[in-house]
Amino acid sequence: MRSLLSDKEWLVEESAFNDEKLNYYETIFTVGNGYLGTRGSLEEGHQAGLQGTYLNGVFDHHASFIVDLVNAPDWTSLSIWVDGNRLDLHSCEILEYRRILDLKQGLLYRITRFKDAAGRITRYESIRYANFSQRHLFEVNATLTAENYSADVTIESDIDGQVYNIDLKPAYKVEPRFSPQVRWLKWSRSKHLAHVEAATTDSGVYLELKTLDRPHHIGYASAVKVEGVDHRLQTQTQYEKVGASVSFDLQEGQSVNFQKLTAIYTSRDVDKSQIRSHCTDVLQQALQQSAEQRLQPHLETWQRKWDDCDIRIDGDAEANRAVRFNIYHLLITANEFDHRANIGAKSLSGEGYKGHVFWDTEIFMLPFYIYTQPETARALLMYRYHTMPGARDYARENGNEGARYPWESADTGHEVTPPWTADGKERIWTGERELHITSAIAFGVLSYVNATGDTGFLVDYGAEILFETARFWSSRMEYKPETDRYELTDVEGPDEFHELVDNSVYTNWLVKWNLQKSARYYHWMKENHPSELARLNQALALDDAAVAAWQAMAEKIYIPFKEGEELIEQFEGYFQLDEIPITEWDENNMPFYPEGYNHFNSDTTTLIKQPDVVMLLYVLPDEFSDAVKRANYEYYEARTMHKSSLSPAIHTIMGIETNHFEKALQYFERAAFVDLVDNQGNTLDGIHIASAGGTWQAMVNGFGGMRVKNRKLTFKPWLPDKWGSISYGLQWRSGRLDVSVSAAQMHFTWRHPDHQELAIMVQGKDVSLPPNQLISVALN
Ligand code: BGC
Repeated sequence: MRSLLSDKEWLVEESAFNDEKLNYYETIFTVGNGYLGTRGSLEEGHQAGLQGTYLNGVFDHHASFIVDLVNAPDWTSLSIWVDGNRLDLHSCEILEYRRILDLKQGLLYRITRFKDAAGRITRYESIRYANFSQRHLFEVNATLTAENYSADVTIESDIDGQVYNIDLKPAYKVEPRFSPQVRWLKWSRSKHLAHVEAATTDSGVYLELKTLDRPHHIGYASAVKVEGVDHRLQTQTQYEKVGASVSFDLQEGQSVNFQKLTAIYTSRDVDKSQIRSHCTDVLQQALQQSAEQRLQPHLETWQRKWDDCDIRIDGDAEANRAVRFNIYHLLITANEFDHRANIGAKSLSGEGYKGHVFWDTEIFMLPFYIYTQPETARALLMYRYHTMPGARDYARENGNEGARYPWESADTGHEVTPPWTADGKERIWTGERELHITSAIAFGVLSYVNATGDTGFLVDYGAEILFETARFWSSRMEYKPETDRYELTDVEGPDEFHELVDNSVYTNWLVKWNLQKSARYYHWMKENHPSELARLNQALALDDAAVAAWQAMAEKIYIPFKEGEELIEQFEGYFQLDEIPITEWDENNMPFYPEGYNHFNSDTTTLIKQPDVVMLLYVLPDEFSDAVKRANYEYYEARTMHKSSLSPAIHTIMGIETNHFEKALQYFERAAFVDLVDNQGNTLDGIHIASAGGTWQAMVNGFGGMRVKNRKLTFKPWLPDKWGSISYGLQWRSGRLDVSVSAAQMHFTWRHPDHQELAIMVQGKDVSLPPNQLISVALN
């Protein structure tokens, strides 16, 4: 099995078992295919393990303190019994232990040699994967070898519906010191699934469950296929659980291969009356195929994905692995076929943030998909289209019109940010106040349309998002007659250390942008798609006068920043706050909280959690001069605590743009390795998937220097000395641009189905790229 794995540069390895790192590796080793993600827990389980299988889009609320992405049954679970003794890491001596995630092929490999109390040595080797070609099929392929004994062996395979989400809410008033082994058991847990059916089928077993509040039904058909040995098969069904056990005699030196195959469907995929037949058909077909026949199309799909999105860094294998690790996680968490699911802040790899979707999608991750997997980008935006009814309710509930997108979103577009922390001790204001998410979604729509040229999406769906978000702002902005301007008071910008501010520059600027762009595309529709516009006008009660009012309002939105100034005040009054200088940094050059700062005075100091003004300079690059970018980077970077993992990648990109190269490199390390080295200390909750998207942007928009300016691709790269060159690919207006950068030159190869030329800019100079030719451009 080991021989199946890719070259070393594509592998992430765990070479010894360590309890302390169990939950960390569970996150890191998540496998998935966009349909679901399954944490890298051990097949046989382990005390303190935090198993998790999350089916994209399957949410439930019921007794949990807020809507949860449901933890569904684990399709990997297996236990091996040798003459009645169970093999696990507690009761056996472990002679060898290694797990390897193959990023290139989406496979998790494991080898463990167990020595039980009777001295019997069993070698267990397995590969697990979520099939990327048949997205409803999941497999553990394992080989057992009796190294020094002959005995009766039983493999127990179950699908256990008794799974829970962790509420991270103490079940006890005063938190006692529980040992790490049992601590997850001591948190309160939420049940989301109830029994529908447990059955034995022709090929194995079938379990169907349903969510308690939401209407989802979930079916699992599972079987164990054993080859090359006489065996006895038994199945068991019980309430909320099914199982199959296979027993055989294993002779000294003999190896037996078996495969646990599971097919999963939900009522999100097919009518609930069809779930069982879909599951059993897929399972049946899989059982008839050989392991190679199932694996091959999976590998081909992975190959195609990497052809579209790989990034190469020559001269730095570690950095390259880290970048690919981030891309791997971006690939396994999004589903181009599902237009009603999105990406939670921890992807499908853990329960942090309950699977909720934030601005992380549009601002941090969407660029990766737009430029490498445009169909996935479209699907992610379709989720925003489909959740617009919830966003409309949200606007209406607050006395506004149009669509107000929720800060945290699950399956309906209604706000699901918890108003309180789980322990009930602290108020969470982001749901009420972080309004800027609404512009982020409009921004995502136009970034996608501009890069892909998919005006069909704009006409059919995107325009409605633009108009509804503009309508929201036009009803939400506060008119101040004394100054004749529009303001937004009591809001929260991206920097969450300041929770209640007036006229956040980031927020107001993007509102202005949202109103202006929406007006512009209204007129574009009028000219190019009048009948579709007429339909929308009728549905939304929109007309030219309303759109003229958006434009007029945009002109009068208060932005506390005057022409000729360089430093932008993050919000009104920010410059008057207390200055507490940062004086100490950790070994990664990340700041420690300075003396005098504490959790409760964060809004009285100029220290900030994450880029806010600097974010604005990045998001709207055309609107600010180099001098403004530099002055603000220097001022705000010195005050940023990077307490969000979203922060470092943006500081890489803007560091390069403002010639702060050393800092840019430090921030890059921080972003690219956030989960591999667990530098935020909470990787166990799930992958920091926005940082993964930010890392892609740091490579392409930072080092690679790519920016879209005036709707054109432009490049101004910079590489650190130790990198010989980098290369990446971009999808652009139905074509594909391959880019490579070294210190002295850039190379481009442009392909387009209609053989069109492409006009780009490199370091401010126009360059024309004829199709199918390698064009080299010298760099200054
Ligand atoms: C950040 C937000 C982000 C959220 C989810 C918070 O800590 O401040 O900007 O959207 O995490 O990743």
